Amino acid sequence: MRETLDAARNSGKRIGFVPTMGALHAGHIALVERARADNDIVVVSIFVNPTQFNDPSDLKNYPRTPEADARMLEAAHCDILFLPEVVEMYPETATGNSQTIQLNGLDEVMEGRFRPGHFNGVVNIVSRLFNVIGECRAYFGEKDFQQLAVVRRMTHELSLPVEIVGCPIIRESDGLAMSSRNVRLTPEERITAPFIYKTLQKVKQLWAGDNADEVKRLVEEAFAAQPEFKLDYFEIADRDTLQPATQRRAVACIAVFLGKVRLIDNILLD
Ligand code: PAF
Repeated sequence: MRETLDAARNSGKRIGFVPTMGALHAGHIALVERARADNDIVVVSIFVNPTQFNDPSDLKNYPRTPEADARMLEAAHCDILFLPEVVEMYPETATGNSQTIQLNGLDEVMEGRFRPGHFNGVVNIVSRLFNVIGECRAYFGEKDFQQLAVVRRMTHELSLPVEIVGCPIIRESDGLAMSSRNVRLTPEERITAPFIYKTLQKVKQLWAGDNADEVKRLVEEAFAAQPEFKLDYFEIADRDTLQPATQRRAVACIAVFLGKVRLIDNILLD
């Protein structure tokens, strides 16, 4: 991979990189299309990274659809599909040894609080992938808003030659944010799921810049009244620090179980 991409870079070509865990959907393809438009060569990796799963059953049940993924990537004019084995990405130990990177508390709130070790695993794998791919632009979806902030911070902290590009959330026509986990919803749950985005849209209307506690209470009550859902967290956070928001430029982030499936979503508040 490195030889191929070094040769391409030496002949003046620019590399666009989309790291994924597979089970691709239109959200991933939007990242590939953006990478296609901005660069000469598009590389997509598919690697279900064991070190970022805090729940072994989530890792076991994570959807894996490699043939369908390859067909979608071909149709989207991806040039190179990188499909490493666990032992290639983690040669010493399948659980991955972690480097300590100062993330300025970005990894301690929200997902970091509810999924211990998750961002350690993300930073671990993304830094290893960036080491393999080398100088490039790398594309991440804003659905994982906190991941995007963590990856930006890690790239800066390690001085990696990678420009991070965040891309807007892609939604189904009923508002549900596209996610590889959506295929695990039952038909009934799939009908109920858009309640998450509907609630976030209400939050956007209610947010006045200084009423986070009130909005939080309303959201918690709304989910408590829907027995199919179990709310992990709802937070209104500053977009840069991810600490509780104190002014208008904020993001509302939510994580909620619908049956056995954990879904996350967010909305920018202005
Ligand atoms: O967003 C994802 O799919 C994963 O967290 C990533 C960035 C590919 C790292 O494993």
